[in-house]
Formats: sequence, C-alpha cells, structure tokens
Amino acid sequence: MEQKEQIRIIEGLLRHRDEGTNVDAGCQVRNPVSAYTSTEIAENEWQSFFGNYAHVLGLAGDLPGPKSFMTSTELGKPILCTRDEDGVFRAFLNVCRHRGTVVESESRGEKNQFNCPFHGWGYDHRGDLVTVPKERHFGPVDRSCHSLVPLPAEERFGLLWVHANPDSEMNLDAQLGALGAEFDSWHLDRFAYQGDVTFDHAMNWKLAIDTFGETYHFNTLHKNTLANDFYGNVQMYDTFERNHRMMLCLKNIDALREQDPATWNVLHGALPVYYIFPNVQLIIGGAGPTLVRVYPRGPDPHDSYSKISFYLDASLDPANVDPRYAEMYEDVTARMHGFADVIREEDYVVAASSHQGAISGAQEYITFGRNEPALHHYHNTYREALGMPPLQVISN
Ligand code: FES
Ligand SMILES: [Fe+2]
Repeated sequence: MEQKEQIRIIEGLLRHRDEGTNVDAGCQVRNPVSAYTSTEIAENEWQSFFGNYAHVLGLAGDLPGPKSFMTSTELGKPILCTRDEDGVFRAFLNVCRHRGTVVESESRGEKNQFNCPFHGWGYDHRGDLVTVPKERHFGPVDRSCHSLVPLPAEERFGLLWVHANPDSEMNLDAQLGALGAEFDSWHLDRFAYQGDVTFDHAMNWKLAIDTFGETYHFNTLHKNTLANDFYGNVQMYDTFERNHRMMLCLKNIDALREQDPATWNVLHGALPVYYIFPNVQLIIGGAGPTLVRVYPRGPDPHDSYSKISFYLDASLDPANVDPRYAEMYEDVTARMHGFADVIREEDYVVAASSHQGAISGAQEYITFGRNEPALHHYHNTYREALGMPPLQVISN
C-alpha cells in the first residue's frame, strides 16, 4: 500500500478515535429478509456467482513449487489446480476423459502424475493424457482430444484465480479495478501456506459474510476476545468495483502517534480486511494473511460453510521486529487459529441465530446502519449483479 494511503488511513482512524466518530454511509438501508431465505435468489446466486465468475481459490503459496497441486469442489464442480514443471499455474475439471471419474481425490500435495483410480489413465500437470494402461487391449486413444478440460486460470497479485465455466474468460483488471495494484503491493506470493479449517453452518452464506461487514459489534459480541486488541465501532472504508476494503482499528495504533508519519506501517495500527466479490475475505495480518472463503451448499439458502486458510511470511525474523509491536508477531499460528475460533464460536453463532430469525417470519427486513457501509455496498452490489433493485434507503 502506498505510504500516502497508509498515512490517510492511520490519520483517519486516529481522527475517529479523537472525535468519537466512525465511518458514515449517510443513511440506513433495509435489507429484505428474503435475501437470506429465498430459494429463487439462492439458485440465481449459485448459477451466477459461483458457476460463472472468477474466484480466488488460494494464494500462490498454496502451490509452493513445480508439480504441486490442490483440488477444489467448492464451485460445484471437481477442480484440479496444478503448478506445472515450469511453474505455471493451471486449472482443470478434475474429471477423467475415459468414464468421467474424479481423477485426483487428495486435497493437496506434490505428484509426478495424476492417475485415475478406476482404470489408471494418467495425466500430467498440463492436463495431458500421458498413460493409458493396456492400450493394446483397450484400443488406441487419441491423446490430442482426451486431455483434462482446462478452466480459465490466472496467477495474479499473488492470488490463484479460477473460473468454473470452461467457456468463459477472465478479466481481473476490470473485476478488481485499483485493488489489483494494492494487492500487488502486499507481495502476497511471499507467504507460505500453513493449513486450513472448514466450518459448516446452518445459515445463508451471506449471513456469514455479513459478520465481516462492520465493527459495530466488537464491544458486545467480542468483548472478551477481539475487543482486547481492537477499538470497536471505528473503521475506514473504501470500495473498489464490486469489492471493498475495511480497515479495522488496532489498539496498537496509539503507539504511532509518537512516530513520524513517513515511517508509519499501516499494519501496526490497522487490520486490512478485503472483501473480494462474491465470497472472499482476505485479511492481512502483521505476520501473514488469512483467507476466508464462504460458500453456499449448492443452491440451498439455508446451508453453507467456510474454509479458512492461514499463511505466514516465512522470511520474517521476530528478532528484528520493533519491540513495541513484538506481541503481534509472537505465537502467530496460535493467534491465527484463535481468530478462526472467534469467527466460529462468536460471529457464526449469532449469524446462524439471525438465520433462525429470518425464517421465523418475525420481520420483513433487517436494518443496516450508517456505521455499516460495507453491508450497504456488498448487498447492493450482489443485488445489482442479479438485476435486483437497490436496498430501500431510510432517510434520517
Ligand atoms: S474412468 Fe478414469 S481411467 Fe477409466
Ligand atoms: Fe465479528
């Protein structure tokens, strides 16, 4: 992130702290409860957002070297992602061209070749069919038209992007706008994959995403956890096309008051939480990012799950860290998992409760406040993408 922008964010957060203000969307909006319960909306989202959109499936570090791979089923199709012998990122439908069996069933690793469990046809990292056992008995197979079906795939900004529709094209520059350059500035390709956790939740997938859309709740829901490290109800907020960036306010920010702004590191006073349309939160912690991906369980409006992946800056030497911020770099892995536990045990508990509220019929709409602009933008964005009218504005 450019130093000028880091200064603008830290100054903005300090101003909110000093003046007792917060970011202001300028109005409240009403979100119909049907956004979370409608089978028609859920079906449209599944087709448009998950079946026909470019998705982040990981960071560059998920495929650490040539011949590494990972598999995915989150977009409703079996997908095999590889890094070939030349280091090029590729993605394919993970479907054998003989009888259609899923070829690779392991979630990630390193292999010389991918062999189908049914009859043993083998594919290389470029998706080419290279082995057909007993071909003399089976009969000849034209290798040139039995490769794995490739999917549009790009490694950009240190992120791995895949489109689930083989006939589509990606335009990440249009999709991300100025966010691409900002992602580049974080050098996301330097982070090593540390592991992931998956949480199932009996609620609409958007309710899980909503929990990331404001810090208004920090001093109540997270009073014994995140509120120890963050000032609640204080944030900076910016949008980038369909995506957005929330800057959460760390209590460490007060140490920056004594420093020359030209030397400020925004990560010492703020936590960037990027929302990548339609379903990803990318959180840039001081020692490494956390990737939260939320998926509906197919077109079911009442069932979803989250996959949270952790990454670390392997080159980071805690001994060289400014002692004022040393705590941020200690026990990093435990902190990352602790953060995931907060999401599961606090945020997602109230979100699932809101889902029960939605199906109860108690009310026709819920309200997003002036201090929750991310929720305004996110819901209006997905509505616009589905051809729905914007949320009703409440003038006050
Ligand atoms: S289905 Fe894959 S080898 Fe037969
Ligand atoms: Fe929360």
